[in-house]
Amino acid sequence: MNILVTGGAGYIGSHTCLELLNVGHEIVVIDNLSNGNFEALKRISELTKKDFRFYQEDLLDKTTLEKIFSENNIDAVIHFAGLKSVDESIKIPLHYYHNNITGTLVLCQTMKKYDVKKMIFSSSANVYGVPKNVPITEDSPLAPINPYGRTKLIIEEILRDLYVSDNSWGIVLLRYFNPIGAHESGRIGEDPSDIPNNLMPYITQVAVGKRDKLKVFGKDYNTHDGTGVRDYIHVVDLAKGHLKALEMVTSTTGIDAFNLGTGIGYSVLDLIKNYENTTSQKIPYTLTHRRPGDIDKCYADVNKANKKLGWKATKNLEDMCKDSWRWQKNNPNGYEG
Ligand code: WQD
Repeated sequence: MNILVTGGAGYIGSHTCLELLNVGHEIVVIDNLSNGNFEALKRISELTKKDFRFYQEDLLDKTTLEKIFSENNIDAVIHFAGLKSVDESIKIPLHYYHNNITGTLVLCQTMKKYDVKKMIFSSSANVYGVPKNVPITEDSPLAPINPYGRTKLIIEEILRDLYVSDNSWGIVLLRYFNPIGAHESGRIGEDPSDIPNNLMPYITQVAVGKRDKLKVFGKDYNTHDGTGVRDYIHVVDLAKGHLKALEMVTSTTGIDAFNLGTGIGYSVLDLIKNYENTTSQKIPYTLTHRRPGDIDKCYADVNKANKKLGWKATKNLEDMCKDSWRWQKNNPNGYEG
């Protein structure tokens, strides 16, 4: 199949492009490179020995998007493109709503025009907000607590309304928990454009000597050791979840949401300890105040994805730490280097 991957030069997008090519799909990538790296696309070609078309364009440009659909026979779309920083979304919500939602509307209108009605949408566990219970199931209350999470929920609702208006669509909503790790080659990985917001890229930058020490945000959460608990999932497991979702949208119509996680929660201190043991790199840290907006615990119930999608994460925390370190050690300055 020929798959249009929006945001394919990003962290999860690039790992998914690699898996798509490895199983014989063709891909077309559109990315405005606001968060992605062209170098990642070059390395995907290197690793797979396959070429593909790349358009450095923005989904908001309807004319260009129509040109892409007219030039390529697209069978399905995997939609990653979107701004994804919780902190930033709180500071510039209008930019987030415009970029993420209007971009998706332009994409869906163009897909409709060219009769492409198979979509996998990159959603997030952020749609759950502060979970009442863990593990979180897909029918848990949807109550995002920041503009970023609200863009994801609004887009999910738009896609549900789209399906109700035309039952010939096949749509899967994938709610990611905490993606970390990197491809085993060490050639592609997570490369934050600024000081990392997220835990694992910060840890790997401490390990490689780019940062002095890690600040652990909060030591009084209602968890086994007082630090925040999250469901870390290897980015390659996450990428393979998209292949299963692609099988679903190409064989059936409908719309459904799935949690992509491991179902296991680890605390910040658990991750630090595991990282040190796995990589033999010391991670100095200080225990500081909570980060506004953070929650105590967030981990997935993955039974629905296991049963209906036929997908299950296979990599453990050691794999995630080992693969993250290999990427950072080989690329101390990310793709810039
Ligand atoms: C994990 C834990 C922090 C950094 C975010 C987004 C979510 C998703 C994944 C897009 C928390 C602690 C972190 C640090 C720390 N992205 N921490 N020191 O906040 O669970 O989720 O990324 O979908 O939408 O919200 O991930 O990695 O930022 O934090 O102590 O320097 O690590 O408090 O407990 P989070 P995170």
